[in-house]
Amino acid sequence: MTIQKIGIIGAGQMGNGIAHVMALADYDVVLNDVSQQALDSAIESIEKNMARQVSKGKIPAEAMSTAMARITPTLALADVGATDLVIEAATERETIKQAIFDELLPHLLPHTILTSNTSSISITRLASRTDRPERFMGFHFMNPVPVMQLVELIRGIATDKETYAACHGVVERLNKTAASAEDFPAFIVNRILMPMINEAVYTLYEGVGSVQSIDLSLKLGANHPMGPLELADFIGLDTCLAIMNVLHDGLADTKYRPCPLLTKYVEAGWLGRKTQRGFYDYR
Ligand code: CAA
Repeated sequence: MTIQKIGIIGAGQMGNGIAHVMALADYDVVLNDVSQQALDSAIESIEKNMARQVSKGKIPAEAMSTAMARITPTLALADVGATDLVIEAATERETIKQAIFDELLPHLLPHTILTSNTSSISITRLASRTDRPERFMGFHFMNPVPVMQLVELIRGIATDKETYAACHGVVERLNKTAASAEDFPAFIVNRILMPMINEAVYTLYEGVGSVQSIDLSLKLGANHPMGPLELADFIGLDTCLAIMNVLHDGLADTKYRPCPLLTKYVEAGWLGRKTQRGFYDYR
């Protein structure tokens, strides 16, 4: 099937990054959020990030103006329905995602493929509440979307071959690389990455090292581009905690127990860069 028009739900850091790369790949994008302020700041971020790509000679200036013109921001969830592919990139909470799908379903075209950018929640369970489990799958981008090469593609138990092939085709048109993951808690990337981040928080909690020495150790000792605590701030501590809870509940193993210090930071509203405070102070 041909995919040309893509609906994106959620204009946060993942949603605006997805809109950015889709528009540059000549897809028509409908970008939805519940808040006008979120839509405005998403368009501002996309403009800023594309302008940086233009100034570095990575894309021509005309590509930026064409891409920006392809993005239609909207507050109406119904507008996302008349598309070939929907990517839900709302908050990482199952009840929120389910409520969005419930509201969206009556507006979808019969052929629309429905996907979620969830980083951990069961695709099979999300799909089972929709009218199209065979045309539902996980489409998981990494942050920052314009820079990261990988997209994890996750088949639910009922996902059909045509749906997988169509999503794989989109990843190829983006010049990104797909990794196929089975539908188990947190899939591949976060099954491995989040326990590492959680262990870094335990290392801090138990006083083994300071924030700076933990990050320095992994940057210089393991060649990671960011230390684990800096990366946690970048991803959002609420998202990290939500993923650890999915691993802990879904795999019922104490090795996935979220560090109490991570929970405390989230309870304090210290969510990382987005709130100007996490393991580091950005104020
Ligand atoms: N849009 C476009 N370009 C961007 C960008 C954005 N949002 N953010 C950074 N860039 C570009 C910069 O312009 C720069 O381009 P050049 O190479 O042409 O100079 C390049 O990316 C590197 O950026 P910076 O020079 O600003 O900074 P850096 O070298 O420190 O790299 C980084 C920044 C790419 C974020 C790097 O630190 C990194 O790779 N960090 C790890 C990121 C990571 O692990 N992401 C996965 C998180 S897990 C996830 O997303 C899954 C989940 O479900 C939680």
